[in-house]
Amino acid sequence: MKVLITGASGMLGTDMVAEFHRRGFAVAAMDRNSLDITVLEQVRRVVGDISPRIIVNCAAYTDVDKAESEPFKAYLVNGLGPRNLALACAEIGASLVQISSDYVFDGRLNRPWGVYDYPRPQNVYGASKLWGERAVLDLLKSSYLIRTSWLFGLGGKNFVFKMLALGRSGKPIKVVNDQFGRPTYTEDLARAVADLVQTRCYGVYHVTNQNLTTWFKFAELIFIKCCQDVELIPCSTRDFKCNARRPGYTVLDPFPLQETIGYLLPRWEDALDRYLAKIRGA
Ligand SMILES: NC(=O)c1ccc[n+]([C@@H]2O[C@H](COP(=O)([O-])OP(=O)(O)OC[C@H]3O[C@@H](n4cnc5c(N)ncnc54)[C@H](OP(=O)(O)O)[C@@H]3O)[C@@H](O)[C@H]2O)c1
Repeated sequence: MKVLITGASGMLGTDMVAEFHRRGFAVAAMDRNSLDITVLEQVRRVVGDISPRIIVNCAAYTDVDKAESEPFKAYLVNGLGPRNLALACAEIGASLVQISSDYVFDGRLNRPWGVYDYPRPQNVYGASKLWGERAVLDLLKSSYLIRTSWLFGLGGKNFVFKMLALGRSGKPIKVVNDQFGRPTYTEDLARAVADLVQTRCYGVYHVTNQNLTTWFKFAELIFIKCCQDVELIPCSTRDFKCNARRPGYTVLDPFPLQETIGYLLPRWEDALDRYLAKIRGA
């Protein structure tokens, strides 16, 4: 079966390509040069030529702070891009996996966010991802909308990578301790996506590793596991200046993932072990 993966050289895209290859799919791995999802004519032509059964959209504008100063770019890639892919899928009868974000929620609940909860983004990035979600759901019945959070994986400048780089500077590091979420390993997410697309149970899913944490606790465990002695200073969101507002609590409730693919993802701490082992071996 043919699958087309956009954003194939990004962090999630890299693992998505590997996962579908491993399962014997014919994979058309498209980076931005081979397929710019913001150009409708190009999307129609490439999708028409390849004629995949499934498209997995891993392409996105992911710089949350920069999006505040260049909203047009964020809306173009995260909103218009998925719209273009949904239109092209509808034209050839393909299904679409759209990856979205916990940042579509405002973070003001004190229980995990369900797929049935109402999104209310707090920043431009979240709003652009929400537009992408709605475009896909409006245009294509055969779509899987997958919200995930706090990704780490190979080939990406993720939080683990940033912490290890900062740790090498030998200076104390301030880390936010009042934002709660679920870190997620791209390898585990890719496996769940590949299982989900076999079910034909289209709809909205929350796919993250299990257990919740804060950025500070996440950083603490990274340095413990890497045996690095780094001075970490917990701080509040208010004390940590950045351009985009960050929601406080974006823990995602996985229901009905287990009911659909038969399992939940492993705990993020286990995923971190596997990721660090992979980096060390790389
Ligand atoms: N990272 C997280 O913590 C996180 C959390 C929640 C949800 N997500 C979602 O998960 C998905 C994957 O994120 P990621 O962290 O793997 O992102 P990433 O590493 O930034 O990869 C995104 C890829 O999209 C490509 N791209 C950008 N604009 C494009 C365009 N117009 N046409 C085609 N490709 C384009 C980028 O190419 P260039 O490098 O050339 O720009 C890059 O390879 C995204 O939907 C993101 O919103 C991420």
